[in-house]
Amino acid sequence: MNHFLEISELSRQQIDSLLKTALMFKQQNSYPAYPSHPVAFLFYENSTRTRVSFEMAAKHLSMPTIHLDMASSSESKGETIEDTLENLAAMGIKQAVVRHQQNGIQQRLAQQLGPKIHIINAGDGTQGHPSQALLDLMTILEKKPNVSQLKVAILGNIRHSRVANSFQHIAKTMGIGELVLIAPEVWQPEIIHYGQSTTQLSEGLANADVIMCLRVQRERLEDSDQMDLNFYRNHYALTAKHLSYAKPDAMVMHPGPMNRGIEIDDEIADGPQSVILKQVSNGVYARMAIFDALVRG
Ligand code: CP
Repeated sequence: MNHFLEISELSRQQIDSLLKTALMFKQQNSYPAYPSHPVAFLFYENSTRTRVSFEMAAKHLSMPTIHLDMASSSESKGETIEDTLENLAAMGIKQAVVRHQQNGIQQRLAQQLGPKIHIINAGDGTQGHPSQALLDLMTILEKKPNVSQLKVAILGNIRHSRVANSFQHIAKTMGIGELVLIAPEVWQPEIIHYGQSTTQLSEGLANADVIMCLRVQRERLEDSDQMDLNFYRNHYALTAKHLSYAKPDAMVMHPGPMNRGIEIDDEIADGPQSVILKQVSNGVYARMAIFDALVRG
């Protein structure tokens, strides 16, 4: 593996191998040390979980870390992102974790820069969030390992969600039994990579083993996509009533950040079925596995 760009590019074997490494790291206290593999962080969009967990992952593996403050970097003087990365590579940076609002930019950078620096996609626009898909799958498998028997429901703003896109790809590769994408009409997906979509919450959640609740991404909404948030709460929010449609032991997931009281209620987010903070913890180990795979080539 030269770069970590899209989960759809990985085979089942590669995903299994990353998951195995992540679980191994989770179970042990001593890790390999890669002090000669500095990693740079270029976040053009805000982040808490992805950024901190990649940084924790790098620190566990003794990789020096450099954060570029994009507002004060030389890109504010007109330097391109390609030139920025060329310069980082020339200074000895081996891996770059990039989050960007533009779909597909990490793929373009990887093609242009080739083997000079490993590019890791930490989220691109509405297209992909591959490390999130890996940690989501890891969290599911820890509790419910029989993927072919699982019904997973993703609930919310599917149309604008890179989390939903990447999860569809990993679900297809790993053979998750049933995947249902639940959204109001205006947030239905333009393209379905795997599974089926519905506007009917009760039908979508019926007998679900896993519910992945998505954030209402107010910053991505065009005027035409706007909807009445009261309508959304009444018909699609993850409330106790709506959760009761799923299996009694259904896992509740959310990639974060949560809009409490909009897409999910406190009692569900903090309730016994929630694995939301487990997702966050697993993010560190999943991202360690990504760094490790890139160092080992
Ligand atoms: N899940 C996720 O990407 O969260 P952050 O935006 O905080 O990184």
